[in-house]
Amino acid sequence: MSNETNRRDFLGYSFAAVAAVGGAASLVGMKQVWDPLPSVLAGGFTKVELGELKAGNPVTITWRGKPIFLLKKTAEMKDNERDLIIGDSRYTVAIGLCTHLGCIPAWKKDKWKCACHGGEFNPSAEQIFGPPPRPLDLPPFSVKGTEITLGEEGPEYKKIAAAMATA
Ligand code: FES
Repeated sequence: MSNETNRRDFLGYSFAAVAAVGGAASLVGMKQVWDPLPSVLAGGFTKVELGELKAGNPVTITWRGKPIFLLKKTAEMKDNERDLIIGDSRYTVAIGLCTHLGCIPAWKKDKWKCACHGGEFNPSAEQIFGPPPRPLDLPPFSVKGTEITLGEEGPEYKKIAAAMATA
């Protein structure tokens, strides 16, 4: 009886050990699947030097797979509560997806025009014509000098977002 008991115990411990090793290996595998890829982590924050922008010539960069419009406003372009002010310069920072159905508007002379259904946005990213129901959205950003980091919620972003929320 004691031999039988020992054999059962041994088999039980062996099974438990194999199960524990298998479980641990599964957890490692699942973690690797769940964790974001290094390229995704690196893509979470994007730094842009605004000081290099030419007034009136917006640029489009990609952040987290979305187009981001960055415009240094000219003196003729109206001030707006969503302007990012750095020194003497005013900038528009906006997610470049039309707020109607998500097309990417293109800059034409002095406004962004959406080719899908004719929506238009002024240099402050406000909708001024067509079906878009609201201005272009504001991406989170922080500011250091003339550099912005997309993906971080800095005080400048919070101030502009609060102003947009009450507009
Ligand atoms: S998607 Fe831009 S106007 Fe419809």
